[in-house]
Amino acid sequence: MPVPVPPSSTAPVDAAAPAGPPSELLDAGERMSPVELREHQLTALRWTLRHAYDNVELYRRKFDAAGVTPDDCRSLDDLARYPFTTKADLRSCYPFGMFAVPMDQVRRIHASSGTTGQPTVVGYTEDDLNMWADVVARSIRAAGGRPGHKVHISYGYGLFTGGLGAHYGAERAGCTVIPASGGMTARQVQIIQDFRPEIIMVTPSYMLTLLDEFERQGIDPRSTSLRVGIFGAEPWTEAMRQEIEERLDIDAVDIYGLSEVIGPGVAQECVETKDGLHIWEDYFYPEIVDPVTDALLPQGENGETGELVFTSLTKQALPIIRYRTRDLTRLLPGTARPSFRRMEKITGRCDDMIILRGVNVFPTQIEEIVLRTPAVAPHFQLRLTRSGRLDRMAVEVEARPDASSGEREAAAAAIARGVKDGVGITVEVAVVDPETLERSVGKIRRVVDLREK
Ligand code: DLL
Repeated sequence: MPVPVPPSSTAPVDAAAPAGPPSELLDAGERMSPVELREHQLTALRWTLRHAYDNVELYRRKFDAAGVTPDDCRSLDDLARYPFTTKADLRSCYPFGMFAVPMDQVRRIHASSGTTGQPTVVGYTEDDLNMWADVVARSIRAAGGRPGHKVHISYGYGLFTGGLGAHYGAERAGCTVIPASGGMTARQVQIIQDFRPEIIMVTPSYMLTLLDEFERQGIDPRSTSLRVGIFGAEPWTEAMRQEIEERLDIDAVDIYGLSEVIGPGVAQECVETKDGLHIWEDYFYPEIVDPVTDALLPQGENGETGELVFTSLTKQALPIIRYRTRDLTRLLPGTARPSFRRMEKITGRCDDMIILRGVNVFPTQIEEIVLRTPAVAPHFQLRLTRSGRLDRMAVEVEARPDASSGEREAAAAAIARGVKDGVGITVEVAVVDPETLERSVGKIRRVVDLREK
């Protein structure tokens, strides 16, 4: 059976070019006018709904139960009539039940580790892999990458989408790839020194581990060849951007993605504006919903923050309809890529939210406070315990190597005060010795929950 082919996203090349970077840096999709984009999205959405309904039993059952057919989608607003898809849906079809093409058309499989239960399995046809390389290449260009640049990739290779996703995108962008993967930190530093890459792609938390290693080896990180860092796979704050940019003397930009939607390259921050991430909307259609009531939330200049939901527009092996990402953000109009909407930097996931004595707390709020406090390093962990019926949170944060005991005490008090004033909760703060907290080699685990369930 031939693989079903989605409508092409290629716009006429002479389409009115919106204001933005030189047009030779933009591909055909980025040059679409807003009207062309909406037309393409509707055609592709209708194709996706039909493809999913005809080829995936779970979608057929869910559409039937909701009383909708693929033909009921006549405008982009009609998408709101279709049921959501969740991680639990993917798990219930483990491993390959959500695939919409015969197995001999699936060229690659990835899986997200999943801290609990079964991993989520995703598949790609050859066209899907091509599209993925295209969107990551576009992301790298938006970050300032150009043909001939060397790209050091420290995202993990393997079932995780980070390494291989970045890899083929960087090759597609005409760059030279250094496939370092995660781990062997001392060797990574040596390779960066010897091979002189301009770009690094890595989680922000592992970048901090690498920075410490540069310093341990007596190398000034500001002296390296690196010019741009493309950081993602976990939430990170403006304060972390500042820390990394200053210590490395680079531009640090944000890349977003998730396995179920494709992997890295769903949205990317442009280096010239650093004002949130443009969503590559010719392939992935975003919505924002209230995570509790499921209602669609308004977007635009005054858009509301809620849960990000994605529908793939051209994917063949794993079409995904209204996928609940659990990530919290809001949608804003485009800037450096005017046809595409932006999403604000993600502050956290619904799942990461800690509810402490009735107050909602995200680890990123603590990160902002720790990073603006002198004498402590950007390495911290949150420990949750329960005594009686009272939940407690302790912030463990590492001292900088040169901090005196007086400075450590002052830092602990400043963090406790910052959390009380800024978040509204009382926490215990322990400033621990340098190099005592676990280091990240990939995605960091910020919260240690010791409360019995
Ligand atoms: O983390 C894909 C990826 C790899 C993105 C490398 C960027 C760079 P998953 O393992 O499926 O895929 O995890 C997806 O990670 O739902 C978010 O919660 C989080 N995440 C990814 N990028 C960002 C980001 C990859 N830039 C989950 N900011 C997502 C905040 C992010 N969170």
